[in-house]
Amino acid sequence: MPADRGIDEAAAVLRAGGLVAFPTETVYGLGANALDPNAAARIFEAKARPSFDPLISHLADAADLPALVGAVPPAVAALADRFWPGPLTLIVDRPAAIPPIVTSGLDTMAVRVPDEPSARALIAAAGVPVAAPSANRFGQLSPTRAEHVVAGLGGAVDVVLDGGPTRCGIESTIVDARGERPVVLRLGSLPVEALVEAVGPVEVRQGSSGRPVAPGTLAAHYAPRTPLRLDAVGAHDGGRRGFLAFREPPADGDWAAVEVLSPSGDLTAAAARLFDALHRLDAAGVTEIVAEAVPDAGVGRAVNDRLRRAAATWH
Ligand code: TXA
Ligand code: MG
Repeated sequence: MPADRGIDEAAAVLRAGGLVAFPTETVYGLGANALDPNAAARIFEAKARPSFDPLISHLADAADLPALVGAVPPAVAALADRFWPGPLTLIVDRPAAIPPIVTSGLDTMAVRVPDEPSARALIAAAGVPVAAPSANRFGQLSPTRAEHVVAGLGGAVDVVLDGGPTRCGIESTIVDARGERPVVLRLGSLPVEALVEAVGPVEVRQGSSGRPVAPGTLAAHYAPRTPLRLDAVGAHDGGRRGFLAFREPPADGDWAAVEVLSPSGDLTAAAARLFDALHRLDAAGVTEIVAEAVPDAGVGRAVNDRLRRAAATWH
């Protein structure tokens, strides 16, 4: 089958040290063999990513974790058991097999099993853990379609696997569960409420400046090229403006482009559309994007987090 051949060929490219962009349930990843420091270096180069920002390693199956890292703390194992495959990244001790460039010199590593069959097939066929950040240039909008990857990274990638739009649309939730109480290092597609239900109270400790706990949590990140303002009702710079709405278009104002995230008010649907809508507004020739926050619950917290960081770029 052509699709399988695509995966086998992409797996061979990974084994040979190349870069493969592939869909996960969250966003498209820019993958390289996580055991190969030269391949990992190519990721940083292609993304213009600062070397202090560590990568997430992806496994085909939860059962591959102990084989890679040895014993894992019980709370980490419990979360993996409950939520993998899925949009949850866990922090574990870095094994010797993973070169320091992948973890930016940290003695911990981030790892997850994506809930996307083609991604797992690719990783299994490659036979190695796959280091993969989001497949965009550093600091810019995350890619939720293959077209976003091609437009942003183009020739820097050896293969782009096209799996259509991603299901969740927002990156994985990152949790460090090695200590007494699990700590959320990045809000993401797995809602905090789901974590709490599974393991009890968690702490949310996202960084915002300097060398962050999880550097994707830099105050300014996930930004369109067009200046974005959050909840800037009434503000007007006189140019052509775009509006990012949650449920319905704004009742007044002169908007050159409007994107509605979810007419039915569904936060999961809104998250799935967020970056796609921002990519479209960015391409609409407007001088400013005004975005409306969504209800701050469930995955809505991660949507608002991304919008705040996108807006912070412009202050
Ligand atoms: O959904 C996702 O997680 C996507 C898909 C492709 O899996 N990947 C993704 O990668 O969002 P990236 O590179 O855009 O974000 C990875 C985040 C960064 O904020 C990085 O700082 C953090 O993971 N991270 C990686 N290793 C870490 C570690 N050892 N400790 C704390 N944070 C870590
Ligand atoms: Mg990213």
